[in-house]
Amino acid sequence: MPENNSNKDIGKKIAAEEALNFVHSEMVIGLGTGSTAKIFVDLLSQKYFKENLNIKVLATSSSTEFQSKSLGLPITSIDTVNYVDLTIDGADEVDSDLNLLKGGGGALLQEKIMASYSKKMIVIVDNSKVVTNLGKFPLPIEIVKFGSKCTQKQIENTLLELGYSDFSINFRKENGDYFVTDEKHFILDLSLKKITDPYILDKKIKKVVGVVETGLFINMASSVIIGNNDGSFKLIEHKG
Ligand code: A5P
Repeated sequence: MPENNSNKDIGKKIAAEEALNFVHSEMVIGLGTGSTAKIFVDLLSQKYFKENLNIKVLATSSSTEFQSKSLGLPITSIDTVNYVDLTIDGADEVDSDLNLLKGGGGALLQEKIMASYSKKMIVIVDNSKVVTNLGKFPLPIEIVKFGSKCTQKQIENTLLELGYSDFSINFRKENGDYFVTDEKHFILDLSLKKITDPYILDKKIKKVVGVVETGLFINMASSVIIGNNDGSFKLIEHKG
């Protein structure tokens, strides 16, 4: 049966519900960005009030911060905590090594900072996000505004050196203008169709001056919860 949006929504909700079981009192919790993370934040606020949890939450974007505040969650800044117990976030793609492609919502930089500072990262996705190779979804690359076209050209040269020939790389636009991230950067969306070595690609792109981060999250997810539209789910733990 072809996947439609409401099927995906069921999978997202199932994954978000399961992730809730990993939240306990006294935890510092990083909250991701995107439609799946949004469902999780809604559910978390219900659990927070029902169980009178003593938690702190941290947001990875202005939209998640707004949602969390509106729901009455005890939000604080990442700079006020010494550690993050657990981050729960969505992804645009997940491969079998639990490497992720993220940033479709434009919050990849804060999401990566949060994930790297967290003891554990649980990724919640519907089953349409599981792929054999990352790269069908365009890879977001966050770059500084100064010299952004030069940065774009240098990334193109890097891709050619790596042996990629069939690609397109475009500035993300919103309402006809450049999309600007919360941290006031631009995003380039790189369509490669198939990423042959995510680790090398991430490393090489990040060497280009002007690049702030890529949406490749290599070895960062501790586990992934995949929700299916029939109400079942699968929890996959990272091997290493
Ligand atoms: C936000 O910047 C992204 O990394 C999201 O986590 C990702 O795009 C998944 O979003 P959805 O849950 O809306 O698919």
